[in-house]
Amino acid sequence: MSELWDAEAARFDDEPDHGLRDPATRAAWLELLTAHLPAAPARVADLGCGTGTLSVLMADAGHVVDGVDFSPEMVARAREKGADRSGVTFAVADAGRPPLEPGRYAAVLCRHVLWALPDKAAALARWVDLLHDDGRLVLVEGSWHTGAGLTAAETEELLRSAGRAPATYRLDDPVLWGGPITDERYLVVA
Ligand SMILES: C[S@@+](CC[C@H](N)C(=O)[O-])C[C@H]1O[C@@H](n2cnc3c(N)ncnc32)[C@H](O)[C@@H]1O
Repeated sequence: MSELWDAEAARFDDEPDHGLRDPATRAAWLELLTAHLPAAPARVADLGCGTGTLSVLMADAGHVVDGVDFSPEMVARAREKGADRSGVTFAVADAGRPPLEPGRYAAVLCRHVLWALPDKAAALARWVDLLHDDGRLVLVEGSWHTGAGLTAAETEELLRSAGRAPATYRLDDPVLWGGPITDERYLVVA
């Protein structure tokens, strides 16, 4: 499965919300994540970090970020992106079983990854274990026009089953995606 993502890596950042090359899109994601993550500096795990765009954005915002992705090609690009930053590390590993120390994280950030995991409940249980007592999960997911993804109701149910209380925010602003959207995209804090 990681081979499929390896093959996506070279062009991954071409999507507006992946590479955040447009300053307006970048600023919108910075504002969104800053609003929902704890105040910096906090220790954040970015699970399924891809090319590391959000990890580096959050490191630049003052957080200490550990990114995990099972695609070596994605992680190679993330390491390049983070090379001149302190406070950001990347590991090649399964996001469903992140090799991170339990109880050390103020937030687990995960964008567009939960939907793809084979055992979502087990992954969420491990992510919760990574958190401090007052830590939070910040998940960005969607139910896309392609038919892939998770509805907000499905994600909320998974979170309730993991013992968390979800608060969901719709992400309808076109600036986040580089244009208007017609499908369901959202952020959940739990
Ligand atoms: C749609 S991309 C999102 C990347 C990044 N979170 C972002 O929003 O820019 C999905 C990423 O999840 C990774 N991924 C999927 N399943 C994974 C797993 N079981 N363990 C680790 N990474 C995984 C893929 O390699 C890919 O980089």
